[in-house]
Amino acid sequence: MEPAADLLSPAGHELLERLAGEAEVSPDRALRLAEQLRGRYPADLVAAALTQQSLRIAGRAKFSRADAMFFTRAGLEQASSDLTAEHSARRFAGCGLVADLCCGIGGNLTALADVAGHVLAVDSDLQTLKFAMRNVVLGHSPRHVTPVCADVRDLALAGHGAFPATAAGRGAQVEAVFIDPARRAGDRRFRAGDSQPPLDWCFGLADHVGAVCIKAAPGLPLELVPAGWETEFVTTGRNLKEALLWSPALATSRRRATILPAVQTMTAEPGEPVPVAAPGAFLLDPSPAVTRAGLVEELARSVGAWKIDPMIAFLAADAAISTPFARTLRVVESMPWNERQVARRLRELGIGTADIRRRGLAGDVGQIHRRLGLQGDGSATIVMTRRDGRPWTLICVSVDS
Ligand SMILES: C[S@@+](CC[C@H](N)C(=O)[O-])C[C@H]1O[C@@H](n2cnc3c(N)ncnc32)[C@H](O)[C@@H]1O
Repeated sequence: MEPAADLLSPAGHELLERLAGEAEVSPDRALRLAEQLRGRYPADLVAAALTQQSLRIAGRAKFSRADAMFFTRAGLEQASSDLTAEHSARRFAGCGLVADLCCGIGGNLTALADVAGHVLAVDSDLQTLKFAMRNVVLGHSPRHVTPVCADVRDLALAGHGAFPATAAGRGAQVEAVFIDPARRAGDRRFRAGDSQPPLDWCFGLADHVGAVCIKAAPGLPLELVPAGWETEFVTTGRNLKEALLWSPALATSRRRATILPAVQTMTAEPGEPVPVAAPGAFLLDPSPAVTRAGLVEELARSVGAWKIDPMIAFLAADAAISTPFARTLRVVESMPWNERQVARRLRELGIGTADIRRRGLAGDVGQIHRRLGLQGDGSATIVMTRRDGRPWTLICVSVDS
């Protein structure tokens, strides 16, 4: 267990206040601070406060209020950011009593408390739950949230009186559940699709409480998701963050790709097959949310693009297309993949810096990059792929070049 409990004491608070101005806690700086502070505070409290300050600094990437929050290392790593938590909470707007199962340090909890009448915050780790309650009150009155330290599998969600009396009323019925099961235990990360509690158990919650959202790793095998559930892949920019699995009561589509921060979203829509033809002047590299959600054809239809191979997720277009669902590149060369000939062409083009995107072709990208022997001032994206079943390459630059 992390030695963090005393941080919630007055001495811990005072110590954290003193460290609040520290911009970064490098090992040298930490050593000096520890020496300065140890005479005045217990050594374990100093160590915990130094760790907490470095977690707060790391937490700024996820939370606008990170400097006042409390984290455990595992809790911060697995927490939903302000941005993703606000997004997943939207479908709970107007719910009376929501249970946030496996609430961790409260990333989702805070956003759920914003939109629901009352939230039950449940986690089996007492320290983590205490931190969640401290974190949620930064934005809310604590009477909107009731903490429950328990194994979620021991709760009778559909029954009355399973929870302590809450401001929502004694024995009030849980209307909806958000669950973010653990994807690691200690230092061990689970395989995609594995979690604690397991996904099967999480899906079963919908038999008791209709409205359920499960936050899962974006790499989860899609065949694990039961029929009638919606799978939503969420990215911030091009970074794939999470898969949200919505029970039939909350589902609005079968598959969805959502790009944050502007909440641009695309759903599965049946339509005409997308034509397959030779590459055009522009290449579209779909967002990972679109490829994971299997919405490449929907994207192609919506922007008038075509496929270069029936099995490949790159799309082609005649004009530069501006869409949040794909990165558009200008094609400067389109040729069969032959390493020596591609290397020669790159030298002719003066390409000294390249990023290799590989889809549908085998090979070690690092080794290929070295063997290409790039020289020159130009930069490019080298796309290694298939064109109508044949190994193919496209040398691309950004649309502005
Ligand atoms: C992925 S984290 C939750 C992150 C949280 N949604 C956030 O945004 O901060 C998973 C949490 O599940 C808790 N947990 C794991 N198994 C549990 C169980 N059976 N019952 C209750 N909590 C559990 C862990 O203690 C951990 O805090």
